[in-house]
Amino acid sequence: MTTPARQDAAQYDPSPIGVFDSGVGGLTVLHALRRTLPGESFLYLGDTARLPYGTKSAATVQRYALQAARILVDRGVKALVIACNTASAVALEALAAHYAPLPVFGVVGPGAVAAAATGSRRVVVLGTESTISGGAYQRALLALRPTLAVYGRACPLLVALAEEGRHTGPIVDLVVRDYLAGVLAGVVEPAGAGAPHTAEDGATVLLGCTHFPVFRRAIVAALGTAAAYVPIVDSAATTAAAVAAEFAAGRVRGVPPQGPAPRITLIATDGAARFQRIGHFFLDEPIDAVQLVDL
Ligand code: DGL
Repeated sequence: MTTPARQDAAQYDPSPIGVFDSGVGGLTVLHALRRTLPGESFLYLGDTARLPYGTKSAATVQRYALQAARILVDRGVKALVIACNTASAVALEALAAHYAPLPVFGVVGPGAVAAAATGSRRVVVLGTESTISGGAYQRALLALRPTLAVYGRACPLLVALAEEGRHTGPIVDLVVRDYLAGVLAGVVEPAGAGAPHTAEDGATVLLGCTHFPVFRRAIVAALGTAAAYVPIVDSAATTAAAVAAEFAAGRVRGVPPQGPAPRITLIATDGAARFQRIGHFFLDEPIDAVQLVDL
């Protein structure tokens, strides 16, 4: 017979949630997860040795993602969040199948939900070469709203700038302007007679790469007056909400009440000091320690 104490224990699980990205960008998703699930512990892996993922083939990214997930699974995570758009786009199904019944979450579906919620008829997706050419966002958005017009723009230089810790300044402004000009011309006309005035008539910019939220200010500046009718969204908050919904539904067990204080453990595959220095900007809090692992 199960005692009440044992029944209680079975309802809870103090194990951490695993979060994985190619680098420090996924810390923006970890930040949102921490806000949404403040009692939970997290184990974050940034595969900094092999970044960027966005220029590599789907087969290579799948292999990298399986290896990165293995580290987290071996350390006993109770759920896995792929906080990398490129890996989510090509490896979510493979990871979910490989590690079943472990709950595995990606960021593409939640990112599409965030963009569709703005009401815009047009969505401009900014992502890595692999994410844009693979069309995962296109499919996710059209599944939600088949009448949407979806445009994609690969912005690989932004990944390098973000990993450099360069989020503002003339080089960033130039690169952002160049990328946006290439995709927004013809989608959103400059303000003036006949120009759109609401998000519905304008377009939504979807930051389809975990590294891009740090360029929000530069993107708003590049949009100029169009910023009034071009909402900018990313997948961090909606991914955290999707994970929290699984806890609420009882499909992932939460930490016990009055359990130990939550722990955040950060792991990188290279450059621990660099990760610490650059990462705090994405996590929005100081980083005390980063462990190194070899995949
Ligand atoms: N973290 C990746 C993403 O969200 C971008 C960086 C990379 O190319 O590795 O797509």
